[in-house]
Amino acid sequence: MDNTLIVFASNHGTVEKCARELFRQIEGKVDICNLKRRDFLPDLSGYEAIIVGGSIHSGKIQEEISSFCDENLEMLASKRLGLFINCLYSGKKAQKQLDDAFPEILNRKAVVRDYFGGEVDQLKLSFWERVVTTRMIEEGDLVVAVSKERIARFATTISTVNE
Ligand SMILES: Cc1cc2nc3c(=O)[nH]c(=O)nc-3n(C[C@H](O)[C@H](O)[C@H](O)COP(=O)(O)O)c2cc1C
Repeated sequence: MDNTLIVFASNHGTVEKCARELFRQIEGKVDICNLKRRDFLPDLSGYEAIIVGGSIHSGKIQEEISSFCDENLEMLASKRLGLFINCLYSGKKAQKQLDDAFPEILNRKAVVRDYFGGEVDQLKLSFWERVVTTRMIEEGDLVVAVSKERIARFATTISTVNE
């Protein structure tokens, strides 16, 4: 059984929900760290596996995730690594957003990378965020949902695949 750390940033709760679902499904000891709440960041060297997850807003992952990856690049590259994003697009657009969200070296090193879909909770969004997401959904004919299957597949892979 491995020690796994899940590090995430969530604007309105979708990434947090997915991180907690991974936490529930991954075998062994699992710790979870919310970068937006500035949770105490544990010593990364104590983990065999690390998962990093964030969401896409106007094409970019959160600054907290980018900085975390840049500041811990070598350490992350030496781990069994999983990377995920939440976003509304799927298919090639989502894959491109996933590729752009993390440094190239981490994309190459990761044993599992995926996008889990996205949600829009109108009550949690500002006026501007509602305008942006409504336009995205109308223009893109998007399915607004999180994929439980993708989360389950990710959890199985990070729990079983060895480098
Ligand atoms: C202002 C705004 C901009 C967004 N831009 C994108 C985008 O460029 N591409 C995309 O696929 N999803 C985009 N989304 C969808 C979010 O990635 C999705 O709502 C996700 O579930 C947010 O997760 P979080 O609440 O945990 O941060 C955007 C959402 C908002 C509110």
